[in-house]
Amino acid sequence: MMSNEDEEEEKNTSVTPETASAYLDPNYWNKRFALEEHYEWLKDYSHFRHIIRNQIGVTDTVLEIGCGNSRLCEGLYGDGITQITSIDLSPAAVERMEMRLLGGGFEGIKVLGADMLNLPFDKESFDVVIEKGTMDVLFVDSGDPWNPKPETVDKVMSMLENVHEVLKPNGVFISISFGQPHFRRPLFEGRRSFTWSVETNTFGDGFHYFIYTLKKGKRSPNSEQCKSEKIETPSICYLQDELEGEDYIFRMAVEELQI
Ligand SMILES: C[S@@+](CC[C@H](N)C(=O)[O-])C[C@H]1O[C@@H](n2cnc3c(N)ncnc32)[C@H](O)[C@@H]1O
Repeated sequence: MMSNEDEEEEKNTSVTPETASAYLDPNYWNKRFALEEHYEWLKDYSHFRHIIRNQIGVTDTVLEIGCGNSRLCEGLYGDGITQITSIDLSPAAVERMEMRLLGGGFEGIKVLGADMLNLPFDKESFDVVIEKGTMDVLFVDSGDPWNPKPETVDKVMSMLENVHEVLKPNGVFISISFGQPHFRRPLFEGRRSFTWSVETNTFGDGFHYFIYTLKKGKRSPNSEQCKSEKIETPSICYLQDELEGEDYIFRMAVEELQI
């Protein structure tokens, strides 16, 4: 059994929050990144490289949203994609990432503190925008995933509008997510002004993770049909076995899955 001191010590060094709504709190992320060196949400680049590698050219300018302490930017860099700007809302994440990249031979990667709901970039500045698990954060307190709270929808639409705006006319948005297509596609297609097409891929042994590739300027005429699309998902026990502890808690909060 743990002593009181051990329990206290664990509380002070644990980065897992007591409730999932903490993921919406910028202070939570800041405290976490002050303690944590590296955590890869969903999976690392090697697990989905085969799906996204062909979508990004080596001369493309890439914006990574919500980099945290992930090694995604280093993975892309290793593949010759060197013009990367990684942003995060958390100053602690930005500071750590800058330190990590410094001296590592990653000239070309810029790290900036910025809010995805108010991106500080000119219109049409990037060929590619990529995020992994960052949009999912907006859903941790969204209520019924079939009918998310208006505040959640407002934030998600604001993020998507920002992304759409900073993408070049033929740019690509890559979203790597726990969120299933029947919940995400209506949002991706939720504005007439969004000119992108939406393609879905999955990765992970039990199809746990989704990659959405949104190509600007290529909206398909039948995009409304996607609203009724459903795909088979594995049973919750199967998911629980395969997802690591915190990813499981996060995913449960993102989709409020029913057992
Ligand atoms: C679930 S983590 C994902 C981190 C990283 N992308 C990964 O795959 O490991 C979400 C990240 O989004 C950041 N974040 C949350 N809200 C944000 C916002 N409004 N703008 C930019 N970053 C944000 C957090 O600080 C955190 O680093």
